[in-house]
Amino acid sequence: MKAVNLINFEGPRSWKLVSHSTTNLQPDEVRVKVKAASLNYRDLMVSRGLYNPQLPLPAVPISDAAGEVIEVGAAVSDLVVGDRVATTFFQDWIEGPLKPVYFQGALGGEAPGVLAQEIVLKSRGLIRFPDHLSFHEASTLPCAALTAWNALFELGSLQPNQTVLIQGTGGVSLFALQFAKLAGARVIATTSGDEKAELLREMGATAVVNYKKNPRWGHSVQELTAGVGVDLVVEVGGAGTLEQSLQAIATGGQISAIGVLTGLDALTPLFPLLVRQVKMQGVFVGSKAMFERMNSAIEFHRLRPLVDRVFPLDEAAEALEYLASGSHRGKVVIEVG
Ligand SMILES: NC(=O)c1ccc[n+]([C@@H]2O[C@H](COP(=O)([O-])OP(=O)(O)OC[C@H]3O[C@@H](n4cnc5c(N)ncnc54)[C@H](OP(=O)(O)O)[C@@H]3O)[C@@H](O)[C@H]2O)c1
Repeated sequence: MKAVNLINFEGPRSWKLVSHSTTNLQPDEVRVKVKAASLNYRDLMVSRGLYNPQLPLPAVPISDAAGEVIEVGAAVSDLVVGDRVATTFFQDWIEGPLKPVYFQGALGGEAPGVLAQEIVLKSRGLIRFPDHLSFHEASTLPCAALTAWNALFELGSLQPNQTVLIQGTGGVSLFALQFAKLAGARVIATTSGDEKAELLREMGATAVVNYKKNPRWGHSVQELTAGVGVDLVVEVGGAGTLEQSLQAIATGGQISAIGVLTGLDALTPLFPLLVRQVKMQGVFVGSKAMFERMNSAIEFHRLRPLVDRVFPLDEAAEALEYLASGSHRGKVVIEVG
């Protein structure tokens, strides 16, 4: 079978399609024929050596895939051959709060990834997904969707009529927009260009601010909320956006710190954080129990993820290059089988 290997840390060109042998199943394991995989910004960071420079190479990259169960180990009782499943990002985080021990089971990071025609995982590291979703759509759920869900409803407590700020049109942000709309919240978005602004409005954003034309967009967001500010910021920008997020937030609001698109090391004045009693909440994907709750909501509302482009497996490196360009909207998917 074929798999992608990360062979060095030179970015997308470090992904090579190679032949891999298959392994025998342990009693608690399941073999999945992967149909689709989706990319996250983290995969780009891993390929550039920015995520874990000590990662032993070669390594199979990425965390997110969906496929069909083709074989189950003797002790597996929760899945059967033919089930349509997605991977869970943290293989061992089933429920309850996050513990550092779970990091070792993070697919495509500390643990081997899933960009392969066949994968073998413990059954507890797989989850069935709603029937109305295609494999392409389901492959977008494990990291981006679950992170947005966790930020809004698990570690966040978003209520109808509250206002959420999302940043840009990437995977996490568009899921946050979709979920916030389902919950009856109002969404204000930032983005880099007019076409993307149009998409955000079509998807339900009530106001969009261009952060390139308006670097002090936090003040514009205050104006758009009549000086009140937003209740929750889905912070994916990091070092370069935190200062404006602190301008945009309401008194008592929550900043869900998720991403580092503009860098890791923030030099941000803390005064607004203190006087507005802002809650800073780190978010790291989510547990399988959260994934199940998210799937229930996706199923009930028949929500469909936004898949921007689908690449064949032998163009996986081009797919990562496309993600790196930042021209995508929503999710970039790889058709695996
Ligand atoms: N903590 C976690 O568990 C977790 C989970 C998932 C992702 N993340 C992190 O969250 C971030 C987003 O991940 P993703 O996979 O959603 O990325 P993505 O799909 O690659 O999204 C990138 C988009 O972000 C927008 N963007 C870039 N620079 C920006 C800026 N200065 N201000 C506002 N928006 C900007 C751009 O959209 P526009 O052109 O529309 O602005 C760009 O297309 C990454 O840093 C990733 O590592 C963290």
